[in-house]
Amino acid sequence: MLNDFLPISPALRQVASDFTLPEPLGFGTHVAPIMVTCDFTSGAWQEARIAPFQAFSILPSAKILHYGQQIFEGMKAYRYENGHPRLFRPLDNLGRFNASARRMAMPEIPSQIFMSALGSMVHYLRGVIPQGVGESLYIRPVMMALDSGLSLAPSQDYRFYLIASPSGSYFAGGDVHALIERSDCRAAPGGTGSVKTAGNYGGSIKSAIHARSMGYQQTLWLDARHQKFVEEFSGMNMFAVRDGILYTPELNSTILPGITRDSVIKLARSLGYDVREEAIDIDELVSDIKSGICSELFACGTAAIITPVAALGEYDGTLYTLQNTASPVAMTLRTRLLEIQIGLADDPFHWSQ
Ligand code: COI
Repeated sequence: MLNDFLPISPALRQVASDFTLPEPLGFGTHVAPIMVTCDFTSGAWQEARIAPFQAFSILPSAKILHYGQQIFEGMKAYRYENGHPRLFRPLDNLGRFNASARRMAMPEIPSQIFMSALGSMVHYLRGVIPQGVGESLYIRPVMMALDSGLSLAPSQDYRFYLIASPSGSYFAGGDVHALIERSDCRAAPGGTGSVKTAGNYGGSIKSAIHARSMGYQQTLWLDARHQKFVEEFSGMNMFAVRDGILYTPELNSTILPGITRDSVIKLARSLGYDVREEAIDIDELVSDIKSGICSELFACGTAAIITPVAALGEYDGTLYTLQNTASPVAMTLRTRLLEIQIGLADDPFHWSQ
């Protein structure tokens, strides 16, 4: 299905091939000049098509703008040495997109539409997939509710679209420090924290602004009920290395089931690491960082790949700095994952397609 390319007009093909790699790349800053759109109307998905990247016209009364009925994914395509583009675990993104659709009472997208949209974008943009370390074509599939009306009711009409951006690192460089958010919370049990919907991210921006003003680059969220157990960073999952064992919070209705998180677990186990998915008490974690029992923390996600976190901090500025700044476990896993993603290492899990 990835090879079922959608037709493209000669003019749009030209627009796609005229697009050159922007400098500096940044993350998600430069969006490719073509996109795929597909509408759900009259109870059925209509034909997907390649369109120029341009503004949508939606009514000010559209439900997406009032009630946030929206879902999205983050995925990446890499260009192998032989020039062929490869996507990383696209079927897992499709599965999570449809899990998000179910939670947000939206129509699921057939795999044929999702995969041919993806395959087409990657095919027509294959010339602008950057090949530097950690660089890729970042792809953003989105679905939103279009019905006009202010009643809080499901929409009948939806739009699926897919845009892409040649991107580099998510973090600008330098050490990543994360603020422990002990006041606001990201997600509550039974809510929408485990799916990819805009509100989960929009609700984290206030904390991000505060964190940034204090020199932190991320927020580390705790559970809503007790403010005691670690959940995740704002846009990525968290791992801690304690006494050589990898720990990550077990999945529940408030944690996003990251595809990179799952890849880290599988990859680490295949390399002989003990990996445990269990509750992580923030006070124990802090005390383990202070004593050196916790030697590494890292964030992982599609955008972040695997990024070491050098310190956790509090609102009052107290900083708990990790002792092992080289982050050998995180860096081993990062290198291995990137090698699989760009085709430099065997892919025993068959993740690249
Ligand atoms: C991703 O990692 O793809 C995400 O969607 C997270 C976002 C904050 C960039």
